[in-house]
Amino acid sequence: MFPDNFIWGVAASAFQIEGSKGRGRSVWDDFCDQPGRILDGSDGRIACDHIERWRQDVDLIGELGVNAYRFSIAWPRVFPEPGGLVNAKGLAFYDRLTDALLEKGVDPWVCVHHWDVPDYLEASGGWRARDIAPRFAEFCHTVMAKLGDRIAYASPFNEPNVVPWVAYDAGHHAPGRQSREATIAAMHHLNLAQGMAFEAMREASPKTKLGGIYSLSPVHPKREDEAHVRATEAGDAMWRRIMLDPLILGRYPDFIADEIAPHVREGDMSLIHQQQDYFGLNHYARLYIEPAPERHFGAKEARPPNDVPVTGWGWQIDATALVETLEDFRARYPDFDTPIIITENGAAFPDVVRPDGTVDDRDRIAFFSQYLQATGQAIKAGFDIRGYFFWSILDNFEWNAGYTKRFGLVHVDYDSLDRTPKASYHFIQNFLNDQREGGMQTSKILKAHGNYMFPMLDESADLYVE
Ligand code: FCB
Repeated sequence: MFPDNFIWGVAASAFQIEGSKGRGRSVWDDFCDQPGRILDGSDGRIACDHIERWRQDVDLIGELGVNAYRFSIAWPRVFPEPGGLVNAKGLAFYDRLTDALLEKGVDPWVCVHHWDVPDYLEASGGWRARDIAPRFAEFCHTVMAKLGDRIAYASPFNEPNVVPWVAYDAGHHAPGRQSREATIAAMHHLNLAQGMAFEAMREASPKTKLGGIYSLSPVHPKREDEAHVRATEAGDAMWRRIMLDPLILGRYPDFIADEIAPHVREGDMSLIHQQQDYFGLNHYARLYIEPAPERHFGAKEARPPNDVPVTGWGWQIDATALVETLEDFRARYPDFDTPIIITENGAAFPDVVRPDGTVDDRDRIAFFSQYLQATGQAIKAGFDIRGYFFWSILDNFEWNAGYTKRFGLVHVDYDSLDRTPKASYHFIQNFLNDQREGGMQTSKILKAHGNYMFPMLDESADLYVE
């Protein structure tokens, strides 16, 4: 079902797990301090205290049996203050982490930046200001110059496509702005920063394979009327095309081309339009769109239809969405033949530790069984998928949902910070064991666990989208 040398990984990110010890502040610290921004009023000060407990976490990753771990580097840990001086102690943390992973036979995958822009850069304009792009490239260069000799795969960004719409139009993520002008400026500077970072990373570590990481889903109108269909075109463009068109086709989509033009300087588009070694695909669920006159592009994310199976966050569970995402992608960019790596996939469920000390998350096991089968089908259908990362190794700080959404294979008690591997952790351990032995049991294992009845979404469910 899966080719030889398939990359099996697990992922996490700095702000979501590390805690703030030893680093400067980021936009997310400031955002958490604003009342009403985070569902449970929490912040990232302690998170999973990975900064202290990382050895235990590396053991958990090693024992899981994956051959890769995707982590990010806290920008304000490496450059805590304006002025560009490197915090050697901060960088040394990731150096130790890299070596410890390699000792366990786990490939360190660096996704350099996962949304935690230093607060002083936000103060000078953040992604609205062009000047952030060379600063970002310098950060990526610094990281790769230190770690690159041991890093086979890296990426400058996690999901730059999510940032303009969610953080600058909706304002649901840090820095929480709500402005069309800021959204447009951020789009171009994120694209430009990625282009500059590819060059900087290649120079610092020529052998490391580089790719972008994007969140993609099939995008549907919530209803089939004209207003919904129009809103969906805008939503789709905001979610996918603003980054994929310039990356793959070398131009912006028509609907924003004129507006973005004043930000685009000579040479920018060729920096953005670069060949990558792999394409990182994060995928969670179908996206439904409805008209939203109050939003700057007239569209917003909608609840899924009633009566579909959902995760604990009300995200629709339907693994056929993965194949559809890939088919949509191929239809829109038929000449794009870069190998694909699924760099995130997972689900939140309301897990509890039972009195006997176990966590029975059979819903997550079923979710992964269905998605792994879908991945196998996509490979069979000719998509060049080379790897798959489970999101996430630990329960962690889930952005504007705080600690209310648990995505981990390992349960984290946020009072004691105890780690408890869930049933899904053991399931994946078995699955990966079988993979190593040739995958003879794979179909049987996945079929046996994929039949769970997920709860259905109903009208009264209190959903928290975006
Ligand atoms: C992705 C993010 C990741 C996590 C998952 C659930 O969009 O990259 O940090 O929040 O969603």
